[in-house]
Amino acid sequence: MAELAFLLNGTPVRLTDIAPTTTLLDWLRDARGLKGTKEGCNEGDCGACTVMVQDVQGPKALNACILFMGQLQGKAITTVEGLSHQGQPHPVQSAMVAHHGSQCGFCTPGFVMSLATAHLTGERDHDMVLAGNLCRCTGYAPIIRAAEAAALSPPPDFIFSQISTGFPKGSVLPFGAGGSGGEQPPDLDAFATWYEANPTATLIAGATDVGLWVTKQLRDLSPVAFLAPITELDHITADGDRLIIGAGVTIETLRKALTHSHPGFAHMLRRYASLQVRNAATIGGNIANGSPIGDGPPALIAMGAGLTLRKGAQRRTIPLEDFFLDYRKQDRQPGEFVESVTIPATAPDLRCYKVSKRFDQDISAVLGCFDIRTDQGLITRASIAFGGMAGIPKRARAVEQALIGRALTPEGVAAALPAFAQDFQPLSDMRASAAYRMRVAQNLLTRLALEAQGVPTDVQEVTP
Ligand SMILES: Cc1cc2nc3c(=O)[nH]c(=O)nc-3n(C[C@H](O)[C@H](O)[C@H](O)COP(=O)(O)OP(=O)(O)OC[C@H]3O[C@@H](n4cnc5c(N)ncnc54)[C@H](O)[C@@H]3O)c2cc1C
Ligand code: FES
Ligand code: FES
Repeated sequence: MAELAFLLNGTPVRLTDIAPTTTLLDWLRDARGLKGTKEGCNEGDCGACTVMVQDVQGPKALNACILFMGQLQGKAITTVEGLSHQGQPHPVQSAMVAHHGSQCGFCTPGFVMSLATAHLTGERDHDMVLAGNLCRCTGYAPIIRAAEAAALSPPPDFIFSQISTGFPKGSVLPFGAGGSGGEQPPDLDAFATWYEANPTATLIAGATDVGLWVTKQLRDLSPVAFLAPITELDHITADGDRLIIGAGVTIETLRKALTHSHPGFAHMLRRYASLQVRNAATIGGNIANGSPIGDGPPALIAMGAGLTLRKGAQRRTIPLEDFFLDYRKQDRQPGEFVESVTIPATAPDLRCYKVSKRFDQDISAVLGCFDIRTDQGLITRASIAFGGMAGIPKRARAVEQALIGRALTPEGVAAALPAFAQDFQPLSDMRASAAYRMRVAQNLLTRLALEAQGVPTDVQEVTP
């Protein structure tokens, strides 16, 4: 039988008999007796289960509760049990003690793992690093003080020895147990051929959606195929005045790569979930799941993105906005998958405003993305898309039309506000009422006009 192989706290592990959609959290606690990694929410929200996972791209903090064993091939995992060495605590652990950063044992291992990963990568934006770790009692100030103190010490040598002993090579052939096999296709062509022949299979990219189908809905997803090993899907390539983004690129990789070329998009992605979720979630999964409240598609549509779909050897490219047909219904044939999305090489004018109840780790109630050009003060081109305003991510075509020839001022755009009712009939749900959504969408256009005039708005963090 083929093998699944990875490093756990520096020790090689080889498994031949494990269901591929077993979560790392369950395996650590139940099969290995490593109870330091905690279960809080079991849906990627609280960070109690945070572990450090290192692959060729470097160390990342990930949520073990929605990380499947089939995603671990060839990686190095460090849990809180692996942080101390010969009785010596990691500098982050020492600092948490010294600064009174902990009261309970539920959240603390997750905080420590997020901070230890940042300690290793050199990331010093601790608010950002800890956005996916929830504490209900200590409060964050002592934890941030501990993080800042720990940052003054270098990473201990033993951490490097744990992750640099070389990744064990496992098989890329099917593995599994009890009939629930998991495919790890060796390359893109092999995957395309396999998926065309197995169109009912569940594709698993980052598992930040699919993980919950297992942990919350207890679904059997077999057969499954893991896309992470397909390196051809994990690239951002310049092609003249366009960028081609592979479906397997994670949201965090995208955020960092587009910081200067697409500042409005990258800035909005800072508010996409948490670092742990962004480290796993892919742009392909964000598009393919067809959610009306996904954060990627409205921004990509406003940029005029193209989507390349592939079935076997056949490819087709369509405007991304045409992919979304109806609520959870996309223009995707059986056996066809998302290969890449193509955007302009730069998008300096794009502005994205995410409206949600919390700044971090929250799903959008409304997301408005605007790419508006002017000439001598008058609008000559408008490309606008919204999430949360319809059953799909949707262009605001009537609003766009109504804006042409108007001044990009609050007075100028006021004439276009009634056109929102032609484009959208939003729903009321637990995140917002229909009336709120409509009002807020119109206000975002007014806000854009105010900012164009240099008027400061009160939520500067979402505007570059
Ligand atoms: C705690 C938490 C917070 C979140 N916050 C946000 C947020 O703020 N904004 C937001 O937009 N989303 C958010 N999400 C949702 C989720 O992160 C995104 O939808 C994510 O981009 C999905 O990508 P993935 O790689 O994890 O997809 P998966 O979970 O692996 O897959 C999602 C779907 O896409 C399919 N799929 C994946 N890749 C392909 C492909 N290449 N071709 C065809 N089908 C494919 C899968 O079969 C599945 O149906 C959150 C999720 C969690 C758990
Ligand atoms: S248990 Fe809450 S994020 Fe994993
Ligand atoms: S110390 Fe654990 S929830 Fe706050």
